[in-house]
Amino acid sequence: MEITIWRPNDMHAHVREGRMLEIVLPFTARHFAHVVIMPNTTQPVLTGADAQKYRTVIASKTDQFPSFAPLMTIKITPKTTVKIIKDAKRSNVMIGKLYPDGVTTNSAGGVRDFTVMDPVFQTMQDAGMVLCLHGEKPGAFSMDREDAFLVELGRIAKQFPKLRIVFEHVSSSRAVTAIQSLPENVAATITVHHLVLSLDDVIGGNLNPHAFCKPIPKRPVDRKALRDAAFSGSSKFFLGTDSAPHPPQHKVWPEIRPGVFTAPVAIGLLVDLFGEDRLDQLRAFTVHNSAKFYELPVLLNSTNPLKLIRTPWVVPKDYSDIVPIMPGGTINWQVVEA
Ligand code: DOR
Ligand code: ZN
Repeated sequence: MEITIWRPNDMHAHVREGRMLEIVLPFTARHFAHVVIMPNTTQPVLTGADAQKYRTVIASKTDQFPSFAPLMTIKITPKTTVKIIKDAKRSNVMIGKLYPDGVTTNSAGGVRDFTVMDPVFQTMQDAGMVLCLHGEKPGAFSMDREDAFLVELGRIAKQFPKLRIVFEHVSSSRAVTAIQSLPENVAATITVHHLVLSLDDVIGGNLNPHAFCKPIPKRPVDRKALRDAAFSGSSKFFLGTDSAPHPPQHKVWPEIRPGVFTAPVAIGLLVDLFGEDRLDQLRAFTVHNSAKFYELPVLLNSTNPLKLIRTPWVVPKDYSDIVPIMPGGTINWQVVEA
């Protein structure tokens, strides 16, 4: 059994720096078309100039993947100024990613007081840029951190009705409902791991550091809401894998960092999950919805499709020591490498 799908977009990926970048970037570049590249690297991407430098590094490693089109971001911090935003736009950087203080990897010193950021949001709105939000409230209880952020999301969306806002890696049923009821300028990404995992996969048996991520995977009822949203075809939800690799030493206490590495297996897992009967919904979720929201051409997706065959395969225990989601698990569909 064989199927062909339009090449997906990944609207949220961590490709890191240095040796880690060399290992993980090809897995993303091989399968995806438009990819939003996260800026929370150890050397953060804070300005248009930083993003251009990072873009050059990424381009130099992806010659052999002509259908890969990285979309660069800058990290929005309390130090981000209106001038930085205007300069970024001039450097062709159309996306700003905001991490609240301390909520995830490399987010220390992030935003706590959101109203202080209003001039930055205003400038982004005027420039037609997209604001990507890690939607968790610092200091709230870990399972409730996302829901506790929804008031702030509502405020920003109302105050800046023309600012396109992406609520990243939505993980709770309440947040899904909130996204559905907010106006058209608000959309959300959904990761593969939040579609697959629940909190039990992290702490239900032995503690699994490789399933530990932010926001934390929640109850089966939340996962069901995410699956329903992804399967619904609603243009408010699209794929952002948040593939977030960490080296082995950062998955051992006291340095267990959040992040699930999904890039090598994301497409197989998604096709397994959607099934052959929902390929139209899969295309909406992985291509049309993000293309519409970000105003991207779909030619790259349609003219460079992926072929998959139904041949069960076992997920490797690691890729150059980086442990992926579901090591040793079986996935039914696999991409036929060109
Ligand atoms: O689990 C996560 N890992 N969530 C994030 O928001 C960031 C990411 C990372 O960079 O490791
Ligand atoms: Zn992320």
